[in-house]
Amino acid sequence: MLTRSFMTPETNKDLLAYTPMFHARMFSEGAKYRTEHFEPVRGTLASPPDSYHTSQMQDSDWYLDGHKKLDRPLFVQFCANNPDELLAAAKIVQPFCDAVDLNLGCPQGIARKGNYGAFLQEDWDTIYKLINILHKELDIPVTAKIRILDSREKTLQYAKTVLSAGASILTVHGRQRDQKGHNTGVADWSMLRFLRDNLPPDTVMFANGNILQHDDIAQCMKETGVDGVMSAEGNLYDPSIFGKPPPMGQEGREYWRGRDGEGGYRMDAALRRYMDIIHRYVLDQEPPQRKPLFLPSDPVEEPEVTEKEQDEDNREDGPPPKKKQKRKEDRAKGQREKCTSPNLTVMQPHLFHMLRPLVSKHTHVRDALGRVRAGDIDEFERILSLVEEATKEGLLEYEKNGEASFQTDQEKAKQEEGRDPESLATLARCKRPWFICQPYIRPLPKEALAKGALMLSKKEKARLEREKEEAEKSGVAPEGRVEEHKEVSNGEAKVADIPKEGLVCG
Ligand SMILES: Cc1cc2nc3c(=O)[nH]c(=O)nc-3n(C[C@H](O)[C@H](O)[C@H](O)COP(=O)(O)O)c2cc1C
Repeated sequence: MLTRSFMTPETNKDLLAYTPMFHARMFSEGAKYRTEHFEPVRGTLASPPDSYHTSQMQDSDWYLDGHKKLDRPLFVQFCANNPDELLAAAKIVQPFCDAVDLNLGCPQGIARKGNYGAFLQEDWDTIYKLINILHKELDIPVTAKIRILDSREKTLQYAKTVLSAGASILTVHGRQRDQKGHNTGVADWSMLRFLRDNLPPDTVMFANGNILQHDDIAQCMKETGVDGVMSAEGNLYDPSIFGKPPPMGQEGREYWRGRDGEGGYRMDAALRRYMDIIHRYVLDQEPPQRKPLFLPSDPVEEPEVTEKEQDEDNREDGPPPKKKQKRKEDRAKGQREKCTSPNLTVMQPHLFHMLRPLVSKHTHVRDALGRVRAGDIDEFERILSLVEEATKEGLLEYEKNGEASFQTDQEKAKQEEGRDPESLATLARCKRPWFICQPYIRPLPKEALAKGALMLSKKEKARLEREKEEAEKSGVAPEGRVEEHKEVSNGEAKVADIPKEGLVCG
């Protein structure tokens, strides 16, 4: 809904949302698992034969997921390795979505253990059965998301298998299974172009990977010839990614434009929209009255007494302030009643994505966000005030010092340290002040290797040595990716170590 909020009613029709990936067996067998992940109705989502007849449902019967006015089109995504389990899960969700997607791209350790996602990609027989049963038994289409394999021909055969089983849309993530974490690297759009040119022309294909900002969407469609583009991280960092920026001179208070004409949505604006959606749709209450967002051109106001100053004043005069007391009580209550609403439990990880550059600079905001408990809306409102204050500070500094206020020379040097020219060009292209929503530019694998965040396995080291020797003999420089590696964890990765998120595709 946040992503949609940055689009016009017209362009909204082009936006398709996916749920996070649900585990098919757990979803079909566990009412609790369903309630904690997918809420098209209030309360427990029943499984067939107690099917829902959505045409007979009253407006008040609908809740949020797959809501006919708020959350369509929606694809529900599952991982599975057993066709019957997948079908059972798909039948539960089919009244509330437009298609069921099979995730064959998940590369995580948990998918390896559970034998699903990208770890099925060698087992085309099972893949065929999983897709085909949905194709035959569901009333809505089945779609699939795959990763590329190590050769064009194999990937083409794989894609053909998925389509022959009955997948109506093929989403291709242009990276191989081992391209994850510090080894993520750049997605291979040329492979997508090859698939587009060699699959039947009526194949509906979506591309995934390398979408950092709005302009990349059109570029990807042009280079690959696909029908749609999926964005995950780009959208998490900048929820306005699918929206067209406002025309020059019509920025309003939410959109910021620098002196070079480049701009983006302010983080305080995006966070207000986020909070308002939570108040209105999740908590069924009106959001608090909010003052217009600050603009440096606004008349100067008398400084307000901040909550902290108020607390300190009160402390001198007597008992602790009521508000603080209430917050403590709410927190204690939160500890007793664990919040399980899927809309509320994802707030903290979502905001760590969206506010990444701001919280890196203003560590008191990062610490406050790190401490907040799921469902503690007052505390999230307090974080919003901190973000508004920080944004105001950033805007005023930009007025005074222009581009120089983005980053100190020291911060810039730190960000650019060990980066190669390709990354530096991307950093320059996507550069925005820290209070503007913007993509996170991951270091390339070779940069991660140089920094020691990624280590080669013995086998890989030997292979590279061999390649180097051969290259020295032949005079041709070795190309290639890091095939096997060990991740070296660092504190930073933990902050951004996010659980499942919803994804969107436009
Ligand atoms: C936090 C997070 C959660 C993800 N969850 C899913 C998921 O549930 N299903 C899925 O197909 N892909 C998931 N992905 C992978 C993305 O769909 C996508 O394939 C990958 O991030 C590359 O695309 P991007 O460059 O647009 O992020 C997730 C990625 C991230 C960063």
